[in-house]
Amino acid sequence: MRLARRALAWSAALGAVAAALGMSGFLTLPGQESLPFTGAANAAFELTRQDGSRFSSKLLAGRPFAIFFGFTNCPDVCPTTLLTMSNHLRSLGDKADRLQVLFVTVDPERDTAAHLANYLSSFDPRIIGLTGSAEEIRNVARIYRVNYRKVPAGQTYTMDHTATVFLVDARGRLAGTLELEGAEAGQLARLRKLVGE
Ligand code: NI
Repeated sequence: MRLARRALAWSAALGAVAAALGMSGFLTLPGQESLPFTGAANAAFELTRQDGSRFSSKLLAGRPFAIFFGFTNCPDVCPTTLLTMSNHLRSLGDKADRLQVLFVTVDPERDTAAHLANYLSSFDPRIIGLTGSAEEIRNVARIYRVNYRKVPAGQTYTMDHTATVFLVDARGRLAGTLELEGAEAGQLARLRKLVGE
């Protein structure tokens, strides 16, 4: 299968990168490990899904969700996080349907809905990719106190961004963050708790 091969290729490449860099301290930007979260986790936002349809945060009412921010040209953190979340969804089995997983691009200029759809086809199809106007992205990033900025890289640019995975419970309260540096079993236990298992 083409998709499975792509996922495996990601996995192998990321494993090598992770081994070379050492996993600790490389998944979060320096100084951003413990961002204070003071926004309302259930504050409203509107974005565009990878299939081009509009997505309203109203759809999340009464449902637990995980939300994180990134961009498809990200060389390491974002694909690692997407792969990890894909594994968790598989591990959750039929309980996975209770958990919404949202990946919001901080690079809407390049990450159009179509581009997101293509990129996310390498990961679990239940992951909702979200893009929008610069203002819509700013609005949702503000809710989660997520920082991001463009960094010139040769003829093009890359993005610095907060890599935290925020967990929001069914009542719209921040239930914590997923520590991706920790053991996968511990992360999965937190997700099971979040979906009420
Ligand atoms: Ni990233």
